[in-house]
Amino acid sequence: MQPSHTITVDLGDRRYPILIGSGLVGGYDLSPFIEGPDCLIVTNETVGPLYLERLKKSLGGHACEALCLPDGECHKTLAAAESIFDALAAMRAGRDATVVALGGGVVGDIAGFAAACYMRGIPFVQAPTTLLAQVDASIGGKTGVNHREGKNLIGAFHQPRAVLIDTGVLDTLPDREFRAGLAEVVKHAAIADAEFFAWLEANVGALLDRDAAALGEAIGHCCEIKSAVVAADEKEQGLRALLNFGHTFGHAIENALGYGEWLHGEAVAAGMVMATELSGIDPQEGERLRRLLTAAGLPIAPPDHCRGGLRAAMDLDKKNRRGRLRFVLLRAIGDAYLASDYSESRLDSVIGPAGAEPAGDQP
Ligand code: NAD
Ligand code: GLY
Repeated sequence: MQPSHTITVDLGDRRYPILIGSGLVGGYDLSPFIEGPDCLIVTNETVGPLYLERLKKSLGGHACEALCLPDGECHKTLAAAESIFDALAAMRAGRDATVVALGGGVVGDIAGFAAACYMRGIPFVQAPTTLLAQVDASIGGKTGVNHREGKNLIGAFHQPRAVLIDTGVLDTLPDREFRAGLAEVVKHAAIADAEFFAWLEANVGALLDRDAAALGEAIGHCCEIKSAVVAADEKEQGLRALLNFGHTFGHAIENALGYGEWLHGEAVAAGMVMATELSGIDPQEGERLRRLLTAAGLPIAPPDHCRGGLRAAMDLDKKNRRGRLRFVLLRAIGDAYLASDYSESRLDSVIGPAGAEPAGDQP
């Protein structure tokens, strides 16, 4: 089976393909990307039972072992990475062994990090199974685990050899996770591609119906945008920071609500609206963003009761950054820039008055 879209992340002699299509897990031959005789598939207890046997069919004649991690962000730990080291060591895996990550962003980040560390770096392949991982986490080589003092505090840049995106596996993804992934799709369009944004406005219904052609198109656009950014700025010296549109507010919302209350994509959706308000662009453009996110079933504002905590979270962030926050702002839809010279009074009005009582808001 051939992919419907193939995009190259052009990092010179570390360039790699992103292969997109429906039915690729089990239907596409990944063996050219598996080095050496040993292969370890890392998945989790939710995704493994659904897709592990199918993925094995993509590995040709390669003997492979599988490791099933517990599900959840709370398991994105050094202990999980260590269980991968243990499995590789028990296999007597050498530097030419390959790790294949089958799962969402959590599995991909842990498995990629373990591959970056084992014997100072072994090949790995990403087979992302959430929309968020397909359009964002599996591309670009950011890998890592959480520490009790912060998310993704321990990590490494380690690029995969290939990214295999099967849009068909999204059929089993819970609705709420799917919509959270759509927030990152909207993000890519909002920062870099006004035409794609207009396409999303016209096709959001088809995406919510998980129409294979629409998904392939949207995921392909996102991968093109992300791979161009990563190729230009692999280690986030500047341009790559634009991918954090909505994230300064989004992280503050997650922090103020308590991690796990809202999904990351839900917080980013409300965060993008706030960042757009801070940008001071044409109000009609802001209205288009709110309408698209609403159509995607995403929140467009934080719950009122967390606004006080939001200010505290941002103040802490500000302190950690030696006094000045950085925001990704928009000149217009499709045209983003990085700013630390935002207006403080506008920021105050975007955050809004603190102290309202909990209102039972739903994401
Ligand atoms: P996740 O990996 O926790 O997956 C969400 C849930 O969906 C999990 O319960 C998972 O088991 C389940 N699931 C996955 N695929 C499924 C499928 N096809 N069918 C049914 N259930 C399925 O969450 P996520 O949103 O994919 O990833 C979030 C993580 O990604 C965070 O840890 C974040 O830090 C990281 N991230 C990394 C990058 C990066 O550049 N490396 C970028 C963005 C996010
Ligand atoms: N998710 C942001 C990045 O990959 O840089």
